[in-house]
Amino acid sequence: MVTMDKVRVMISEEEIAKRLDEIAGEINNDYKGESVILIGVLKGSFMFLSDLAKRIKLDAEVYFIEASSYGSGTQTTGVVKISKDVDRDLKGENIIIVEDIIDTGITMDKVTQLLRARGAKSVKLCACLSKPSRRRVDIKIDYLGFEVPDEFVIGYGLDADEKYRNLPYIGVADC
Ligand code: IMP
Ligand code: MG
Repeated sequence: MVTMDKVRVMISEEEIAKRLDEIAGEINNDYKGESVILIGVLKGSFMFLSDLAKRIKLDAEVYFIEASSYGSGTQTTGVVKISKDVDRDLKGENIIIVEDIIDTGITMDKVTQLLRARGAKSVKLCACLSKPSRRRVDIKIDYLGFEVPDEFVIGYGLDADEKYRNLPYIGVADC
């Protein structure tokens, strides 16, 4: 059990806000005159998606998808199940998948494959965090917040046993 006072701040609220301004600026520029469909991956992306969406000045729709990766404990097996899907036709649309963290890349590999098969005009990936040292599948991240070292991070949507998602910053549990 980690208590809140044992959380070390890795990326502050201010740093996140600054990076979000930059990423949203890029997106607003890249899709000028077009509309976008933001698809957040539950649950971890909820806070990042919310802060990002507020900065997007395009016609936008928001949907969620839920992907569960099965394995023993914290080790992923590579078997990914979509437990909540997008209830909308995606043909001809600009999709931006919004994810909390790309770790092994296995979840995102499956989610992007699934969404790409639906005839969208474009599919891009926006992730708040990436742990490149852990990658097992090659994944292109079009818009990335921050690279982080191989440490288990919590907060800003990311959980440890469903807790700490509500922290406004990204932290590491020092126990
Ligand atoms: P994948 O290994 O890239 O498939 O990552 C799958 C999911 O594991 C991510 O979307 C996160 O929800 C979760 N995850 C990976 N690393 C961390 C972490 O450091 N803290 C909290 N959740 C994580
Ligand atoms: Mg996730």
